Amino acid sequence: MSHLEYGPLASIIGVWKGDNGTDVAPEPNDGIEHNPYSEVLTCEPAGDVFNASKQKLWAVRYHQTARRLSDNTVLHDQVGYWMWDAVQKQVVQSLTIPRAVCILAGGISSTDSNGTLHLDVSATDGDAHWGIIQSPFMDNNAKTSAYRYQLSVEDDVLTYSQSILLEIYGKFFDHTDGNTLLRFNHP
Ligand code: HEM
Repeated sequence: MSHLEYGPLASIIGVWKGDNGTDVAPEPNDGIEHNPYSEVLTCEPAGDVFNASKQKLWAVRYHQTARRLSDNTVLHDQVGYWMWDAVQKQVVQSLTIPRAVCILAGGISSTDSNGTLHLDVSATDGDAHWGIIQSPFMDNNAKTSAYRYQLSVEDDVLTYSQSILLEIYGKFFDHTDGNTLLRFNHP
């Protein structure tokens, strides 16, 4: 398979699965929830777009579903795009989750001496470009203040960790997730 024009995003195309997810989420009264989860992440080539007749972006569309190991119920669902601007050497992730929260995160890709690809994107509430949009309810009760997502791919192994700074139950809470996934097939 050749998806060279997708730049670093070529490495994430495929169907990925893993059972080692670790989630740390907030609970009322200073509580902390630890949720082990399984996950399926599908990343498909979505072609290219031209913006203002100047900027070319290559896009990968993804869908992530995480399920509790305890009872297989869905604990997180997310859809979005990864985009690559080869001229600016910029990586962009747009995502939405069914809590009425959307994020546009920007960042970089790099490849280390072992050939491992790294993507690192972030967004901050209030930033004019790499920002977070949320419903009035979430803004007032469970605000996403900052987002950082780091991913690495070596051959058919993808590892990610993310940190989401929430303002919930009257304080800041670092909502974190991470998993290691294996690639099952290329679409
Ligand atoms: C693998 C990824 C993720 C998993 C497994 C996950 C899981 C969870 C869980 C289990 C809760 C607690 C829900 C509850 O107690 O009712 C939670 C809360 C929350 N998550 Fe996530 N999450 C993920 C990613 C995200 C992302 C990317 C965002 C933001 C864009 C986000 C925003 C929130 C918010 C705002 C809450 C607070 C809602 C509440 O507890 O009332 N999460 N998440």
